Amino acid sequence: MSGSHVANDLGAAIPRFPLAVLPTPVVRAVHLERALGCGPLLVKRDDLIGFGVAGNKTRPLEFLMGAAREHAADVFITGGGPGSNFCAAAAQAARVAGMECELLVWGDPQGAPNLALAAAAGARLVPTGGDVREAVDELVVARADELAAQGCRAFAVPRGGSTGLGAVGFAVAAAELAAQLADRDPAEQPALIVLPVGSGGSCAGLLAGLAAVGLDVPVLGVSVSRPPAEIGPRVDLLARACATILGTPAPRPDRLELLDARGPGFGVASALERERARLALHTEGLLLDETYGAEAFSAAVDRLLADPPGPVLWWHTGGLVPAVSTIMKGPR
Ligand SMILES: Cc1ncc(COP(=O)(O)O)c(C=O)c1O
Repeated sequence: MSGSHVANDLGAAIPRFPLAVLPTPVVRAVHLERALGCGPLLVKRDDLIGFGVAGNKTRPLEFLMGAAREHAADVFITGGGPGSNFCAAAAQAARVAGMECELLVWGDPQGAPNLALAAAAGARLVPTGGDVREAVDELVVARADELAAQGCRAFAVPRGGSTGLGAVGFAVAAAELAAQLADRDPAEQPALIVLPVGSGGSCAGLLAGLAAVGLDVPVLGVSVSRPPAEIGPRVDLLARACATILGTPAPRPDRLELLDARGPGFGVASALERERARLALHTEGLLLDETYGAEAFSAAVDRLLADPPGPVLWWHTGGLVPAVSTIMKGPR
């Protein structure tokens, strides 16, 4: 943790709508370490973030909802695919923040628990009528313009809430982690942080936040949906946008290694990733999802088993959607 200092007021001047119960715990996975015969393995428990079931996506939403309220928006517009944790969390957060929510959804929303949860939370689901994910980001802006022309104040954000402002949520999380590590034994200071990467906002915010608080720990980003060559420049752009908003030192892209973990496909874990996810459940009671958690956790274990750099901190980003309780569907 060379040259680190703790900046608990990082982002304090930026409008924020509190949703999460923070800080999320950092725990040592001793039973897992014993079962694997390696360690130390620390876990940042964003699965316990205390709002909805979308894990880390609550972090960007605090700042996106803060901005939407500053704009006196009546509608929060975003979108995603059938498996989008962000859509579910955005629907819940908009409701709490006193806004309507409209979700532009690619693919087939039928039977998707995240979207069923979003609908149960009162969001309007608007199918884009196609399978092109990228189309959503243009459509949300067009839809916001359309609503503005009808006299509505709409606040539009792209998929995953991954903007410079959304990334501020994870930059603040880096400061939260730095404060927690300051109280920990020197033998438990992470030599590597591992987290899953989808749309890139969380990883970008983490890089910006680590630079902001002077916590010099390398990051392994486990890319689950895009090749590293595609997501790398995007993470870089978002990290720089985030640092500009915060007015903090430039992030260090050279401290990020991106791993291609697309494997059998988006949302499908390999046999080894599944086996390790089961081990995490059996030894620590940790629930991992098949899209993000299993892949990133397995990459963290690989590093610990092969060539341990020292203690590894795996950021458990949560995001496990249970079947939507029938009570959410309204009166019979
Ligand atoms: C549970 C979970 N973990 C990780 C990620 C990846 O975060 P990002 O899209 O910011 O890269 C997501 C994205 O939706 C997620 O839902």
